[in-house]
Amino acid sequence: MDYVSRALEALNEPDRFEWRAHGNGFLKTYLDEQKRVRLNLWHHRFYRADVSHLHTHPWSLSSQILIGQLTNMRYKRLVGRRATHAEGRINCQDFRGVEGNPNPICLERFTEEVYRACDIYSQRHDEIHETLAVDGTATIMTRYDAPTAGFASVFWPVGSEYGDATHHNLRPEEIEETISLTKELLFKAASA
Ligand SMILES: [Fe+2]
Repeated sequence: MDYVSRALEALNEPDRFEWRAHGNGFLKTYLDEQKRVRLNLWHHRFYRADVSHLHTHPWSLSSQILIGQLTNMRYKRLVGRRATHAEGRINCQDFRGVEGNPNPICLERFTEEVYRACDIYSQRHDEIHETLAVDGTATIMTRYDAPTAGFASVFWPVGSEYGDATHHNLRPEEIEETISLTKELLFKAASA
């Protein structure tokens, strides 16, 4: 399937798609029935300060930037150093919050990659990262199976608490305004 065309359908006929917001700063909808391909529309209005933004995924991924600009920051674990973060395990298929006791670890950022329209990047399921994007950025993310049994990690700074990224009470105008901004960026790029 041509997922770029499908993404444009979602932007032009949003009522035919189911939209959810994520506390890491984006609006999302699936472009296929198997829920392997997702359109993310980034906007700071969905970014919640009380959420744990550093995480891994239960699946590996590739992401194509349709429009806008995205920054992906990857982190590594440092052994034998004073803990900077707590690591909690969550079951993304059957979410019950953090399971078991959080594990103290030391994290250090080692890359800060900037991607723009037409760029594609990929990431293994166990890579610790945080992602930011300019308002209106649209990305098409494809998931690939990984041996995680649905579990991923979330990380929060020592001295703070875990914050769930689930976003409730998405208002229709938030969907409309976010989609309008993405379409504006697409029209600008097409007419440049
Ligand atoms: Fe992520």
